[in-house]
Amino acid sequence: MLYLAPLQGYTNYIFRNVYSRFFDGIDIAVSPFVSLVDGKRIKLTHLKDVLPENNSGMMVIPQILGYRPEQFIIMANDLYKLGYESINWNLGCPVPAIARKKRGSGMLSHPKLIEETLNEVLPNIPNKLSIKTRLGYLNNKELLNVIPVLNDFPLEFLNIHPRIGKQMYEGELDLETFSTCIKVSKHKIIFSGDIIDYDFYNKIKNQFPSINDWMLGRGLLSNLFLPNEILQKEDYSKEIKLEIFSNFINELFEEIKKTMTADVHLLNKMKEYWVYFKRMFVDGDEIFNTLKYIQDIEKFHKTTNEILKSAVLNIPFKYYK
Ligand SMILES: Cc1cc2nc3c(=O)[nH]c(=O)nc-3n(C[C@H](O)[C@H](O)[C@H](O)COP(=O)(O)O)c2cc1C
Repeated sequence: MLYLAPLQGYTNYIFRNVYSRFFDGIDIAVSPFVSLVDGKRIKLTHLKDVLPENNSGMMVIPQILGYRPEQFIIMANDLYKLGYESINWNLGCPVPAIARKKRGSGMLSHPKLIEETLNEVLPNIPNKLSIKTRLGYLNNKELLNVIPVLNDFPLEFLNIHPRIGKQMYEGELDLETFSTCIKVSKHKIIFSGDIIDYDFYNKIKNQFPSINDWMLGRGLLSNLFLPNEILQKEDYSKEIKLEIFSNFINELFEEIKKTMTADVHLLNKMKEYWVYFKRMFVDGDEIFNTLKYIQDIEKFHKTTNEILKSAVLNIPFKYYK
């Protein structure tokens, strides 16, 4: 199965809906994290990204960040009432301000706290629970100490991004430690990290033949056709791909516009997407340089469409930063 990675700021419900209208191959998305909140009632606005009425295109597993059991139980039950039989717990977020508060990957050096949380939470929630994690926050031994704890609980799956929190999103993947994790965990493992093209996917698949589930994040934003390439599905001509991308980006623009109160926010959001989308084009850097200095939203939109009339897709896809 192919999972869409949670990428806070990118793979929100608008992206998921628009993406699924133009591209296929993704089976399930894990949502960007929703933080636990105080109080017995959770405002629906806090759950906006996962409200069923906002999610017509893709199956979604909402992700929760935080560890206070009481709040966890309230949120999980609310999500169940909204129809979510599966939820995901974030034990991987590397952001120092979060990790320092024993949330995200900052919890991995506290196996006892994880055990206590699961002991309290699991009997009180109707949902299936899965976990998305890293190898540790400060070092790569942390998850190995947590896995024996996790093995005592019924988890739907364990999704591992084989880096430590301190690396953020850069540097080598630690596939050796990942390999040990697979051996000691009794749960189904989903791999997440640096899948940017078919060749890398194939390499990892051959190295870890027991894994059947893959999560695509930045690689998908850099090549929206990536799931099709991985699944080796029907290939379209360059012209058709460019047309699909142009229609996609116009619809993404229109949908985001509906939710933004100020043009500058729409402009900045589109520029953020283009940091990744540019990689789909032969002259991606030039395209991005043209777009990034535009300060007027109408001009930005018009220029994007002008550029796309003659842009050349980077196919066969060659990844570059
Ligand atoms: C901008 C950004 C936001 C992210 N937000 C989340 C998040 O909300 N929850 C989470 O579990 N992981 C998050 N991640 C981690 C990704 O889901 C993924 O595990 C990681 O980027 C490695 O996979 P990739 O190389 O395919 O992107 C985020 C990563 C990035 C770059």
